[in-house]
Amino acid sequence: MRGRFITLEGGEGAGKSSNLEHIHRRLSAAGKRVIRTREPGGTPLGEQLRALLLDRSQSAMVADTELLLMFAARAQHLGELIVPALERGDWVLCDRFTDATYAYQGGGRGIDPERIRVLEQWVQRELRPDLTLLLDLPVEQGLQRAGARSDPDRFEQEQEDFFRRVRDAYHARAAQEPERFRLIDASRPLPEVQAQIDQVLDAYLAEAG
Ligand SMILES: Nc1ncnc2c1ncn2[C@@H]1O[C@H](COP(=O)(O)OP(=O)(O)O)[C@@H](O)[C@H]1O
Ligand SMILES: [Mg+2]
Repeated sequence: MRGRFITLEGGEGAGKSSNLEHIHRRLSAAGKRVIRTREPGGTPLGEQLRALLLDRSQSAMVADTELLLMFAARAQHLGELIVPALERGDWVLCDRFTDATYAYQGGGRGIDPERIRVLEQWVQRELRPDLTLLLDLPVEQGLQRAGARSDPDRFEQEQEDFFRRVRDAYHARAAQEPERFRLIDASRPLPEVQAQIDQVLDAYLAEAG
């Protein structure tokens, strides 16, 4: 049987990377073989594109270039890793996917979502995530956490307004596809966030079989 494709979304400092290992363990304990990966990146070529996308010295990058590089990395990721894994029955757990493109390149950079939809269809054909956990928290709180983590990359150096549009776009995505999205209150302490995630995963595992 084909595996399931689970994505983790949310703004800067929401706790995506922090919870990836926890989710991986939970799914493995339920007997699933799980591949853990991230976007942009996930393959050697994709990681090189990621480095370009996050590089602060790439200040001349225009929004459409950014969008196309995201989908170039995604095409590689799908072809080299995600689709083969799902086809052999593995589950794939991905730190960010196309919802992040709608949020950052759409909401943040102002690209018309209809133009993103064309690329989504072109690159992914029928493939969409089966389940998406949206880690949601106020922008200031996320930026505080991310700021304490490391030097800002090309996205993290954006202004609060940008991240407000990112959050709004994520909320709009979740409202459009309530069957796929699960909203997690990521403003809570980590153990409470993990308890919410466990609830979602247990319910999903029960229905996925
Ligand atoms: N629920 C939480 N409460 C407090 N700090 C957290 C929580 N979740 C993550 N953090 C911390 O916030 C920072 C950003 O978390 P990270 O997982 O890297 O976020 P993301 O990958 O979503 O950008 C890290 O230093 C992490 O330890
Ligand atoms: Mg992260």
